[in-house]
Amino acid sequence: MERLTGRPLHPFLRRGIFFSHRDLHEILALYESGTKFYLYTGRGPSSDALHLGHMIPFLFTQYLQEAFQVPCVIQLTDDEKFLFSKDNNKKLEDYQRLGWENAKDILAVGFDVERTFIFRNTDYIHSMYPNILKIQKAVTYNQAKAIFGFDDSDNIGKHGFPAVQAAPSFSSSFPQLFGSQSNLPCLIPCAIDQDPYFRMTRDVAPKLGYRKPALIHSKFFPALQGENTKMSASVANTAIYVSDTAKQLKTKVNKYAFSGGGATIEEHQKHGGNCDIDISYKYLSFFLQDDQELERIRQDYSSGKMLTGEIKAKLIQLPIK
Ligand code: TRP
Repeated sequence: MERLTGRPLHPFLRRGIFFSHRDLHEILALYESGTKFYLYTGRGPSSDALHLGHMIPFLFTQYLQEAFQVPCVIQLTDDEKFLFSKDNNKKLEDYQRLGWENAKDILAVGFDVERTFIFRNTDYIHSMYPNILKIQKAVTYNQAKAIFGFDDSDNIGKHGFPAVQAAPSFSSSFPQLFGSQSNLPCLIPCAIDQDPYFRMTRDVAPKLGYRKPALIHSKFFPALQGENTKMSASVANTAIYVSDTAKQLKTKVNKYAFSGGGATIEEHQKHGGNCDIDISYKYLSFFLQDDQELERIRQDYSSGKMLTGEIKAKLIQLPIK
């Protein structure tokens, strides 16, 4: 990738945050021989604002778009969140609104206005529908149950949805961008939990005469409370939101970011901090671009020279980009 783009690798790649892939080498080989690909990623709009974990695939996709100068399509699955939500008080219109809100956070990452198409499924379904039908016909109910764990009490909309997430993997779903006959290679950056959708997609692609999409997967971003806790959109203090004020961000990090430091300053200076479990260090390892500075922080914190308050202060003032 460095050779093809003439740029240094993104820290997410250098540090193994994007850690696995399917057929990435093929996408790169095609690119090298002059065939451009397009990028596809998405978001299920379930909260008003995105948190840092949600931003990871978008930050990375934007980097890929800029480095390779390729088109990008972004799917907002208001339909998915409506069908899969257990909250019966929320209306379809609520998810449509969240999709609209989230589009702003996503575009603010810096996608190329000339090369980016962002859409909400309830608006755009029409153009994708021929491909959705072809995918639905090629997947049996048994397969869908085995992949997604549906059972007979799930609503019927859920069973049909995977085809809707699969469809943008095929460039003919975007006739106004690529033409209806197109079969451009597709690369999908996503969090690892989305892989089942695309295993299904890759399975049906040859049956439809399409190319299999390639994938590159990210690890999960840890919650403030520690590596093995989950960020929750409904529990506000588990995550930092892009809509948090500078003050809220400071309070959250100081109050909730799990610390691998010593219980007292004396103890910390004697035994040092543990970067393997320290959330401030973890977050810095996602977002601090400078490898040397990160390594210096790791050494100083591990030796006890840098205090917990200091590593938190470093994180609080760090710009994300
Ligand atoms: N299902 C994803 C979510 O719940 C949204 C999504 C749709 C997506 N298409 C995608 C994510 C493609 C990654 C890549 O957030």
